[in-house]
Amino acid sequence: MTDDLRSAGWFKGSYKGAYVHRSWMKNQGFPSHLFDGRPVIGICNSWSELTPCNAHLRDLADFVKRGVYEAGGFPVEFPVMSLGESNMRPAAMLYRNLASMDVEETLRANPIDGVVLLVGCDKTTPALVMGAASCNLPTIVVSGGPMLSGLFRGEKLGSGTDMFRLSEEVKAGRLKAEDFLASEAAMSRSPGSCNTMGTASTMACMMEALGLALPGNAATPAVDARRRVLSQMSGQRIVAMVREGLRIRDVVTRRSCENAIRVNGAVGGSTNAVIHLLAIAGRLGIELGLEDWDSFGRGVPTLVDLMPSGRFLMEDFFAAGGLPPLMRRLIEAGLVDGAAMTVSGRTQAEAVAGEEVFQDAVIRGFDDPIAAEGGIAVLRGNLAPSGAVLKPSAASPHLMQHEGAALVFDSIEDYHARINDPALEVDETTVMVLRNCGPMGYPGMPEVANMGLPPKLLQRGIKDMVRISDARMSGTAYGTVVLHAAPEAAIGGPLALIRTGDRIRLDVPGRSLSVDLSDAELAARRAAWTPPDMDRTGYLGLFRDHVMQADSGCDFDFLHGAREAGIPRVFI
Ligand code: FES
Repeated sequence: MTDDLRSAGWFKGSYKGAYVHRSWMKNQGFPSHLFDGRPVIGICNSWSELTPCNAHLRDLADFVKRGVYEAGGFPVEFPVMSLGESNMRPAAMLYRNLASMDVEETLRANPIDGVVLLVGCDKTTPALVMGAASCNLPTIVVSGGPMLSGLFRGEKLGSGTDMFRLSEEVKAGRLKAEDFLASEAAMSRSPGSCNTMGTASTMACMMEALGLALPGNAATPAVDARRRVLSQMSGQRIVAMVREGLRIRDVVTRRSCENAIRVNGAVGGSTNAVIHLLAIAGRLGIELGLEDWDSFGRGVPTLVDLMPSGRFLMEDFFAAGGLPPLMRRLIEAGLVDGAAMTVSGRTQAEAVAGEEVFQDAVIRGFDDPIAAEGGIAVLRGNLAPSGAVLKPSAASPHLMQHEGAALVFDSIEDYHARINDPALEVDETTVMVLRNCGPMGYPGMPEVANMGLPPKLLQRGIKDMVRISDARMSGTAYGTVVLHAAPEAAIGGPLALIRTGDRIRLDVPGRSLSVDLSDAELAARRAAWTPPDMDRTGYLGLFRDHVMQADSGCDFDFLHGAREAGIPRVFI
């Protein structure tokens, strides 16, 4: 047992303070030998019944504890604020930074030497990783795993993606409303997170790609017994990481972030990963910018054929081998740097050596990608001077270069009030614009950018149109949607200045997004623009005073930059 562990600052010694720290812990039945200098492992649990995707994490925590005990550590489980994408309003994203502060300060304030992060639903992964990153302790991530494939009347259903598709079918008159509602229980039929390559699955892949999780973390289904095994192995491994002194900043580096960007392209991952990875990198002191998403993702084909970009679901991805053989393919192709370190104590190349693809239809080869350009396109121009993003693999090829007249909605309520109006002047060439839905404006940058199409166009068989917003889009959604336009409208970004009828030009190959207005006209409109009223009371005040724009990851400015957990002053 070593004396130099952080927890020794609490538990070692015969003074009154150490007595207090040990004595009160012993009220839970912890015997004296657990305080003998062994690593104390925090199990940071985002379990909540209000976060259905994480509702099984108490079970996984027990398996993590087994592993910690086996390896000679002392596990202590604690709850943190949970962020359920399906329930939280106005947007779970509004609370990502708040939850990260909960994690950071809980770790800093307590006798913890290393931490296992139990995550699942979209924002829980970045929130917990951001908080842990700010403490720079040994850290390992265990994701809850995806739900089983939805099954409805003999057909597989993908979380979110098929919900969007079926609801459009109802609007188009091709599906009865009662049949749509009957699919509810069939879509979400087991514990776990969304079974498509939505944000939760994307972030689980990012954890493996960053080296922060053991191989198999991304795709092993939530209810598969091997998820429990992975949890137990992670418990063992975190104890070893504490003894080795392998901290999160030793694992997540600029090189591993570049790997994650490329893996995101290969899996057809969510655009939300852009914001979250920028925020995580910021907490670790890694210089990473929006442009890196374009440059490192460019030329990476999407090889994983999963919804929303493709056809299959996470269970199929797991059966095909999951992320490890894909990583191996990317390493062998020179797209991923196999020398990057992982929490396993091995390099990426060592960790995935010998991994095989079992189904080429799901994990395709480089000669048969589902999209040649799988990365994230970063667009700039007078409509988004600080950048906007688009996911080419989820967009329609015929709209990648498009010019059309703007149809502007000032809010999501404005959109809902007008979109079903048969008299709405809109056709398939129109560019629908939704503004005031950015980090400050909504607030919390909800996933509303992929506005459903007008029913009268759906009934004509139109399936996609160009849409632009300062909002985000669900990772399970699809379409030619330009997202995260920055600066956002609510702080006077150019999106605030355009009017219905203005001509908008989208050129994805040229990476540009512009409105056909002169600088003088934009300046005149800006002079006449008045900022919207924004509630700045309570937490909203903190949020609006400090949230950064999408191109900086939407973290709070005062949380950006590398810090350490340290050992706080003793109070007795
Ligand atoms: Fe939780 Fe999709 S809603 S993972």
